Amino acid sequence: MFASLSQSIIDMERDWLKPFRRRLRPHSRVRYGDIDVYYKRFLDGGGTGFGQDFLRLFRSRRMPTQARLFEWCAGPGFIGFSLLAHGFCETLCLADVNPPAVRAARMTVRRNRLADRVAVYRSDNLADIPPTERWNVIVSNPPHFDEAVFKHHITHYDRDWHLHRDFFRDAPRFLAPDGVIVLQENNQGATAETFRPMAEAAGLRIVLVENCRGVLTPQPNYFYVGFMRAGNAAPAWVGTG
Ligand SMILES: C[S@@+](CC[C@H](N)C(=O)[O-])C[C@H]1O[C@@H](n2cnc3c(N)ncnc32)[C@H](O)[C@@H]1O
Repeated sequence: MFASLSQSIIDMERDWLKPFRRRLRPHSRVRYGDIDVYYKRFLDGGGTGFGQDFLRLFRSRRMPTQARLFEWCAGPGFIGFSLLAHGFCETLCLADVNPPAVRAARMTVRRNRLADRVAVYRSDNLADIPPTERWNVIVSNPPHFDEAVFKHHITHYDRDWHLHRDFFRDAPRFLAPDGVIVLQENNQGATAETFRPMAEAAGLRIVLVENCRGVLTPQPNYFYVGFMRAGNAAPAWVGTG
């Protein structure tokens, strides 16, 4: 009886009190180029840190400015807003399932007057994205682990890789012709090969792998894996590393 009572208290703290306290806390702010990005600390899944390495990746490969870029699992949009601020895209689309993340991203749009260039959707994976969206490049720092130990962490946990699998299944509908997907993953939870069968089942092929160790590692090691439709030729920037 005591065990089940203390479990109920733990569940109540996690499911009600913690979200309530987080809601009351004011937003923080980080500046990328001329954009102030609003967020709360618990929404940062690495986007303010290793996520900013997308700038180096795209600079080193001389990726030209893209007409429209999408950040999947965007959180407050640290990566997407930064790429927009640094001229890697003309317009930006962001989506996340977590309401506080969507609220933060919309605050950034409002306070920086970006409504004519940025769309923010609350979407469970890609299920609630308007069918008219077309993206030249998709980027993401999605949840990196399929281990149940992370099951209460929305920023980390992808049960049985269902999030990745459904993403690969649905993303081709939104990809512009010759569109490219670049995911930032972590060798602590996966290697590029983890995703190959899921992508291939969806008619995609791997076109880029950078910094992947090829085995699971005890410490974090972030790497990039890129995908295109199987029949599409890769643009020059994808092949230059
Ligand atoms: C590793 S965090 C990355 C957040 C942010 N992009 C960053 O780099 O800090 C993963 C994100 O995936 C989101 N997420 C988890 N499950 C999702 C789902 N079913 N649909 C959309 N987003 C989801 C979480 O809310 C979280 O914001």
